[in-house]
Amino acid sequence: KEIVLSGIRPTGYLHLGNYFGAMRNYVRMQEDYNCYFFVADWHSLTTHPDTKTLRSSVHRVIAENLACGLDPDKAAIYVQSDVPEIAELYLYLNMMAYKGELEKVPTFKDKVRLNPDNVNAGLLTYPVLMAADILIHRAVKVPVGKDQQQHLEMARNFAERFNHRYGEVFPMPKAFNFNSDLVKIMSLDGKGKMSKSENQMATIYLSDSDELIQKKLKKAQTDQGPSAPGQQKPDYIENLFTLASLVSEPAVVNKFEEDYNNCQIRYGDFKKQLGEDMARFVAPIRDKALAIQQDSAYLDKIMRQGAAKARESASRTIKIVREAMGINY
Ligand code: TYM
Repeated sequence: KEIVLSGIRPTGYLHLGNYFGAMRNYVRMQEDYNCYFFVADWHSLTTHPDTKTLRSSVHRVIAENLACGLDPDKAAIYVQSDVPEIAELYLYLNMMAYKGELEKVPTFKDKVRLNPDNVNAGLLTYPVLMAADILIHRAVKVPVGKDQQQHLEMARNFAERFNHRYGEVFPMPKAFNFNSDLVKIMSLDGKGKMSKSENQMATIYLSDSDELIQKKLKKAQTDQGPSAPGQQKPDYIENLFTLASLVSEPAVVNKFEEDYNNCQIRYGDFKKQLGEDMARFVAPIRDKALAIQQDSAYLDKIMRQGAAKARESASRTIKIVREAMGINY
């Protein structure tokens, strides 16, 4: 079975971008692949050094993944800091990652711009830790959203350099989505991607109530509508149609598509329908996640079981890595 790995940072509430970019694929892949899914708590420290809410965030991410259908008996579900082998591999990979290439990464440049007072070395080497996460299980498929594509390319570079220097140890990992193109869900205000901590009224969280979801959709960015038949949709309208194609009946989506193409679309009606369908979609995930979060004994058990499975695989890789490098005296 091919090995699959992916991770989510516990930096806030999970949203539809996380779901459609990543988690939906996890659930499908656990049937046919050897899967490792983890909560990237070390990664979150690069931008969120305050650890007071970390425990509850980690629990929530795990509960939300379980609520979406992840099965701990099929996939290993673990927390990054429970697998110290990742830190060892990170150290080795840091020796083949160069300052110049790390400084050029767009996500690094964004973070520097947003928070110039905390440009720490962990932030700079974020892609190296991410490569270690993937390579520690010698994973080949990595289900992620489009925003992670560049990080995946870097992971491949580091793996290639390692193999070149010390011998073939790592297979090349690749970003994965079932429909080939990686997903990018935009924020409902039309300004960039949907994200955990940006405009909360333009982000649909998996924990939102029905009323809040409908309210957020009502406020979603639209315009006067198309002025000529068959006109191309602006990004924010395209995004609403993408969301509709994910949660609404095909007949409903087709009707609004037709209305759009005939310049007869009424965005108020479209958003109302989408709000109802979205609420119906999110409700069972939200309710299930809440119930799981109450059961900390169950969460503990899953984290321990997942960590044991992950460490078994990780220590196998570290042994091979050390032998390849000659660190086995
Ligand atoms: P994170 O926590 O920001 O997001 C988790 C997953 O959700 C996807 N995603 C989106 N997809 C589509 N549209 C959006 N608006 C959207 N927002 C988020 C992300 O692409 C991601 O798949 N660096 C990673 C965590 C990580 C990781 C790894 C992932 C650490 N190590 C190893 C894969 C492999 C991150 O910050 O994801």
